[in-house]
Amino acid sequence: MNITEVKKITVLGMGTMGPDIALAFSIAGYEVTGVDIEQPILARARQRITTNCRQIMEEDQLEKTGDLQSRIHLTLDWDRAVADADYITEAVPENMEIKRRVLKRCEEVCRKEVVLASNTSTMSITELTSGMRYPRRCIGTHWIIPAHLSPSVEIVPGRRTSQGTTKFVFGLLRKVGKRPAVCKDNPGFIHNSVQVAMIQGALALVERGVATPEDVDTMIENGFALRLPAAGPIRIVDLIGLDAFLGGLKYLYVTTGNPIYKPSKLLEDKVQKGDLGLKTKRGFYDYTEDEVSKLRREIDRTIIKTKSLKERQP
Ligand SMILES: NC(=O)c1ccc[n+]([C@@H]2O[C@H](COP(=O)([O-])OP(=O)(O)OC[C@H]3O[C@@H](n4cnc5c(N)ncnc54)[C@H](O)[C@@H]3O)[C@@H](O)[C@H]2O)c1
Repeated sequence: MNITEVKKITVLGMGTMGPDIALAFSIAGYEVTGVDIEQPILARARQRITTNCRQIMEEDQLEKTGDLQSRIHLTLDWDRAVADADYITEAVPENMEIKRRVLKRCEEVCRKEVVLASNTSTMSITELTSGMRYPRRCIGTHWIIPAHLSPSVEIVPGRRTSQGTTKFVFGLLRKVGKRPAVCKDNPGFIHNSVQVAMIQGALALVERGVATPEDVDTMIENGFALRLPAAGPIRIVDLIGLDAFLGGLKYLYVTTGNPIYKPSKLLEDKVQKGDLGLKTKRGFYDYTEDEVSKLRREIDRTIIKTKSLKERQP
């Protein structure tokens, strides 16, 4: 199917994620049908959509929230919503059996050219779609809570997902204003692999009595996190300097023996080649002189915007 032919989106599951995903598509102008299995859940979903619309109108100056709401139809009529859809995404509970059942039923009911996406945050797409007749058109799209606001969505093709499906979903999500990233079907995808590593590190510090939960959060909220809108963890290593980062890792590994600090071969090879990051204009990325200054300025600007120096004066 061509992206321009997509008019109606169906979201299955109106629990925590479903209403926000529905709103994301509605903001982009699509007609959305949200489906669940009980009326009170749909009533809660409507309330949540109303509250979210009010907030984005007040805080993001997005207008015409009346239209946003009226483009979202909530129903218990599962088969009809699936049969009418030009694109379907499921946001049912993180349970392999439920998801497999839902995806199989979708392929029996929906049109043959319709793409089926799963919002699983952990499960293998290849496993979820095994036993399906048309796994070529099934794909993972892992939205990040709150889905209507977070720009990133990770796209996870399974082993039998077609390239056409991946390209189609990438284009559709771009049209919805998202910044999708494609990831192989590996446990944790990108988001959870990185997020879990950070949270596990923070919890270990609290458990070992190194710092209180408040002190861990103060450090991260006012330091590491502030650079992230301008530079992800890989770009941050370029900023720090690959040699400096490697030196620190080696010391930590020898001192603690913790395998998390074991330097990767990828990092060691780059340092050996002299690719040290911004200072040599080549690290994990290549930079021109202009790009180096731009990245530094962008990081500074992001910090000023979130934690202005003026507002921090006593
Ligand atoms: N909650 C999060 O922060 C988060 C973030 C990213 C991804 N996810 C993923 O999104 C998916 C949904 O998570 P959630 O937190 O919204 O779950 P949830 O339990 O809050 O909501 C799931 C909804 O699906 C409904 N449902 C069950 N069977 C159904 C069926 N056959 N047809 C239609 N609806 C059905 C349930 O009644 C429920 O309302 C999961 O795969 C989860 O891993 C969740």
